[in-house]
Amino acid sequence: MNNPFKIAIVSLGIAFLSSCYYDNEEELYPNTNLLCDSVVVSYKTDVDPILQNYCVGCHNANNPGGGYVYDTYADTKNSVDDGTLLGVTNHYTGFSSMPKGGSKLPACELGKIRNWISEGALNN
Ligand code: HEC
Repeated sequence: MNNPFKIAIVSLGIAFLSSCYYDNEEELYPNTNLLCDSVVVSYKTDVDPILQNYCVGCHNANNPGGGYVYDTYADTKNSVDDGTLLGVTNHYTGFSSMPKGGSKLPACELGKIRNWISEGALNN
C-alpha cells in the first residue's frame, strides 16, 4: 500500500469519526441552548421557583405530601440526597410520579433540576 493511499484512508476515518461524535452530541444535548439556559443553574433563581410552581402546593409544612416538603433549601436538599427529587420528577421506576395527577415537568425544567444536582445541589 503506498503512502498517499494510507493518508486518504486515515483522513476518511477521521472525518467519519468526527461526524459521529457531532451526531451524538446533538442527540445528548438536544437544543439545550435554544430551549433554555440550563447550563449554570441556581437554587434561588431556577430550582426554587420550579418547586414553588409545581410542588409546594402539596408539599409544605402544613401539608407534607408523603412526608416531603419543598419550602426551604434544607427540605429540598433532603429529597436530593435520598434520590427522590430526580426519581419522582423523571418518573423513574420505583418512585411515585410527580406532580401527582399532573403531567411530567417540561424538558427545560427537568434539565435545570438535573444540572443543578450534578453541579452539587448548592444553596446558590
Ligand atoms: C397534587 C398534589 C401534589 C403535587 C402537585 C406534587 N405532589 Fe408529591 N406527593 C403528593 C402526595 C399525596 C404524595 C404521597 C403519596 C404518593 O407517594 O403518591 C406525594 C409524594 C411525593 C414524594 C414521595 C414519593 C415516594 O416515592 O416516596 C416525593 C419525593 C414527592 N411527592 C415530590 C414531589 C415533587 C418534586 C413535586 C413537584 C414536581 C410534587 N411532589 C408535586 C402530592 C403531590
